[in-house]
Amino acid sequence: MDHFLYRDGALHAEGVAIAALAGDVGTPFYCYSTATLERHFTVFSDGLKPLDPLVCYAVKANSNLAVLATLARLGAGADVVSEGEYRRALAAGIPGQKIIFSGVGKTRAELAFALENDVRQINVESEPELDALNQVAVSMGQRAPVSFRVNPDVDAKTHEKISTGKAENKFGIAYDDAPRIYARAATMPGIEVVGIDMHIGSQLTDLAPFREAYTRMRALVERLEADGIPVPRLDIGGGLGVPYERTNEMPPLPTDYGKVVQEVFAGWEDREFECEPGRLIAANAGILVAEVIYVKRSGDRRFLILDAAMNDLIRPALYDAYHDIVPVIEPAPGTPTYEYDVVGPICESGDTFAKARALPELKAGDLVAFRSAGAYGAVMSSEYNTRPLAPEVIVRGDDFALARPRPTYDDMLGKDRIPDWIDPA
Ligand code: LLP
Repeated sequence: MDHFLYRDGALHAEGVAIAALAGDVGTPFYCYSTATLERHFTVFSDGLKPLDPLVCYAVKANSNLAVLATLARLGAGADVVSEGEYRRALAAGIPGQKIIFSGVGKTRAELAFALENDVRQINVESEPELDALNQVAVSMGQRAPVSFRVNPDVDAKTHEKISTGKAENKFGIAYDDAPRIYARAATMPGIEVVGIDMHIGSQLTDLAPFREAYTRMRALVERLEADGIPVPRLDIGGGLGVPYERTNEMPPLPTDYGKVVQEVFAGWEDREFECEPGRLIAANAGILVAEVIYVKRSGDRRFLILDAAMNDLIRPALYDAYHDIVPVIEPAPGTPTYEYDVVGPICESGDTFAKARALPELKAGDLVAFRSAGAYGAVMSSEYNTRPLAPEVIVRGDDFALARPRPTYDDMLGKDRIPDWIDPA
């Protein structure tokens, strides 16, 4: 459930009319709902209640400071994958002790930054990274708290570009190498082994791969502990999918996911659990609002040309992702629909949001909203075609605030430098 509903025939974010926001900040823009962020965080946490995990929100899904600060006030930790994200989590008030540093290619400088900033745990993904971290920690007179991301070789049955838990993927240490690598790490002066981590992919709509991965995780921990290596913390990753296509898609509910986790880890309730959900918290807490620039008829096709483009929301172009598109003015019941190809202005055929999408008749100047755009939307946007990044607005009840303004053209051009060997024009 989210808080983007029609009220008196017009789409609202909680108590704020989307059309009023468009008048205020211009289009395209992202809009987030505080109540939805809070609800998703709470529902997810409640689903795992008996294990009482530290929910480390995956910052990559939506790293706006307003979003992070909203979640931080609910007690969220953060899962970060770069120094930049680490700095964002700190700036939003998440202490280092609640920050997990993940990622397959952390640099030495990033590892040092994490150690300087009281990191909770570094999820190490390879032996070269382990060696580098050991050296960095020793040079700083510290012991780095380490969990290993173990690749369980499980098929997550999701889009190939966001599947991470198969042996052929670049992520984690191989399952069969884990006992040897854990034993080695236990002898290293700069390393303190604190746990184990798994993350098998994103937008999972089936619970079976989770069950399989967690069962393998439990077996591995039992084996390591039999070898005399304690593994007190279990980081069960993120990846639970959300409904993008509301009418015929029903991914498992967080409570069903929670049941699987509790079943697999029955009897282990007094261990320390952590998780890293991103999309489930943020996706349906955000929309992207755009204006129709033109409606073009070409043969028997209708193109809806928007002022948003693939630089604002790249998921359809990159993953063939589906996003619901709804008019901001509620269509009256029984309004006929037409098939539109919904596109942006960029000179690439890939700049297509949807093909043959049934929508009521729309005209230039009308507003539409892409639903479920709160995760991997704004964070993946770019200035391609020198298009300004869409601003981000956050709503709470009847209030709204600009969480990131639209850059000006001067801001954008001012970032470039012409070398002084070129004569001034
Ligand atoms: N933990 C790790 C180590 C991850 O790599 C990810 C996501 C997460 C947690 C959070 O997964 P989530 O709960 O959000 O599924 N850009 C793609 C999604 C990429 C996900 C990458 N890793 C998209 O737009 O679908």
